[in-house]
Amino acid sequence: MDTLAEIARVVNACTDCQLHAGRTNAVPGEGPDAAELLFIGEGPGFHEDRQGRPFVGPAGNFLEDLLQSIGMTRDQVYIANMVKCRPPDNRDPVPSEIAACSKYLDRQIELLDPLLIVTLGRFSTARFIPGQSISRVRGRLRRVNGRHVFPIMHPAAGLRRQEMRAAIEEDFAKIPGLLDVLRIQSEPASENAQVREPMAPFDAVPADRPHSLWDMLEAPEPPAAPPPPDPPAAEEPEEPNEPLPGQQRLF
Ligand code: URA
Ligand code: SF4
Repeated sequence: MDTLAEIARVVNACTDCQLHAGRTNAVPGEGPDAAELLFIGEGPGFHEDRQGRPFVGPAGNFLEDLLQSIGMTRDQVYIANMVKCRPPDNRDPVPSEIAACSKYLDRQIELLDPLLIVTLGRFSTARFIPGQSISRVRGRLRRVNGRHVFPIMHPAAGLRRQEMRAAIEEDFAKIPGLLDVLRIQSEPASENAQVREPMAPFDAVPADRPHSLWDMLEAPEPPAAPPPPDPPAAEEPEEPNEPLPGQQRLF
């Protein structure tokens, strides 16, 4: 399996565990090959099984709202699940099913090589951080086998309980800042002067995002001491995504 599309083809024909028997469609996952952000849920539900797409039911609507709250859309991220076929009556996947299906997720992670993996709920969190309760580990970035993993509670839990919804929203709001830091960290030192294009357009980034590195990057130039330098085109405020010469010095 050398591409994400090939994984999807193999998954759609897979009969490696009993879940294949009850599915309408397998749900391999979807998103751009170059996604920086990978979300991993549990497994398809009713709507996902019908459509063959991840997170298209009520939990998916909530996930889309959460993405919007950080200035992103679902077509910018990759969305996958621990098991690719729906467990009957939405029961939990059993260990043998998770084990049979893990080769697909493993390969998706290898091919995507995402900057950040957000695990949604206890099953995908346990893949990286076994034996800990989600309520203990949620909302904190971990490095696991070279991958950056940020566990949050499952959006479906947020639909059932208001206090969980608040926790999910709180954790989600940390994602842009994490991406900022990870993007900068992942740049080779010699390229630090070039800030990579942010995933979200500038005007979609919430103005009240707390203490993000982009706040620094996008800070207006301090007033130039007289005599003013030649008016460089980069100081035009119309192109805020272009790092200004003085801003590059930050990195
Ligand atoms: N819940 C999940 O965990 N995954 C989906 O794809 C949909 C709902
Ligand atoms: Fe194959 Fe995974 Fe579906 Fe089981 S859940 S049949 S291992 S694709």
